[in-house]
Amino acid sequence: MTQSLLLSCRPFHQPQPGAALHCGKVSLAALARRHGTPLYVYSADQIVERLGLFQQAFADRDHLVCYAVKANSALAILKLLADHGAGFDIVSGGELERVLTAAPEAIGRVVFSGAGKTAAEIDKALTLGILEFNVESEAELKLLSARAAKLKRKARFGLRVNPDVFAETHPYISTGLREHKFGVDIRKALAIYKSAAANRWLEAHSVSVHIGSQIRSAAPFGAAMARVSKLVGQLEREGIHLSAIDAGGGLGIDYHADSFDAAAKVREYAAAIESALGDFEGRLLIEPGRFLVAQAGALIARVLQVKRNGKKTFVITDAGMNDLIRPALYQAHHEIVPVKPRAGRPRIVDVVGPICESGDFFAHDRKLAPVEPGDLVAILDAGAYGMAQSSNYNTRLRPAEVLVQGAKARLIRRRETMTDLLAPETFAIGS
Ligand code: LLP
Repeated sequence: MTQSLLLSCRPFHQPQPGAALHCGKVSLAALARRHGTPLYVYSADQIVERLGLFQQAFADRDHLVCYAVKANSALAILKLLADHGAGFDIVSGGELERVLTAAPEAIGRVVFSGAGKTAAEIDKALTLGILEFNVESEAELKLLSARAAKLKRKARFGLRVNPDVFAETHPYISTGLREHKFGVDIRKALAIYKSAAANRWLEAHSVSVHIGSQIRSAAPFGAAMARVSKLVGQLEREGIHLSAIDAGGGLGIDYHADSFDAAAKVREYAAAIESALGDFEGRLLIEPGRFLVAQAGALIARVLQVKRNGKKTFVITDAGMNDLIRPALYQAHHEIVPVKPRAGRPRIVDVVGPICESGDFFAHDRKLAPVEPGDLVAILDAGAYGMAQSSNYNTRLRPAEVLVQGAKARLIRRRETMTDLLAPETFAIGS
């Protein structure tokens, strides 16, 4: 696969053959010199374009794209998305604070998901007046009603139902089967809505569903939505009228391919959902995360050493599993390309980090264009669940992040310092 083909669905490109990779009009080599490595670089233009794909695909229906903050919670990205009309899907009080900081005007466009919300988190969200709580159990609905009564604020909720639909993805990120911890069995939903109808502190606002993440085919979304639609019809017949349906997130990208057509993918997804929604006239909420930000981002790392051990060649980079854990955690594939190509034959290598774990790898037995110590490599499709899942393991400072818009590059998070890292700790006992 040639480098230019590989990059066609990604915002990284070579302005001329042989030149260093750019994001928009900005050279990745220049960014690495200025901000150091490892460095996350994101394209604001691609993020906005991807949001637009969903907005266009559902243009004929009242809809709201609630970006799943967990995929990449950088304040600048939240602000960018809010400025383009997005709402947010949050799963913690921390994510609520992020939305409040970056885009307080979007609080009314927030849905609060997650299998275990605390009373304090619920109180904060109720007080701020978020759009709805996606409730995952009867016990949580009880807690929500108690908090709402205490604060004298009616709580809009959507019951997250588990439609028992199988979606082909990694087992750690599949959620729509009865055996998973998420949501309530769709067969119990009617009774729960009926009992909530009698509660003056609860307003049944929607029904929500999320069947998993990195789902490549549109069919399971259609299947889940068909079951949800049926439930909405049953509720309607019982006199319970819902204003919205929340279809969740989960649409996958192609981490391998060179010719991924994002627009066609979104149209296919929208068609599957539309055909199952039938004549539902309320609002459609969707919660994409990965699809909006994954391909917009790359993790730029510097090669520290190229080392041979027996038959194997290891390219050791200054980025590690603490910066991007997806390969270690999900056996995830990320394409890797040299930032400035060198002449010579590709080699089969392992690309690894400096951390003391065999799981600290980005690629095994990968055909990689030649690289030498000091060269930069770009680990692609790292915009989602990259920085968001990073850690300080091995007392490593988390990377800086840069957001590129056209010819402008903005540092949106500085590299951590040792002072940041040690600040919460003490070694004095008993003082
Ligand atoms: N809504 C809910 C309720 C979710 O749980 C999730 C993701 C989303 C929306 C967004 O899903 P997306 O559109 O991004 O697929 N760390 C894993 C992915 C975990 C996804 C968890 N839930 C990874 O790196 O692949």
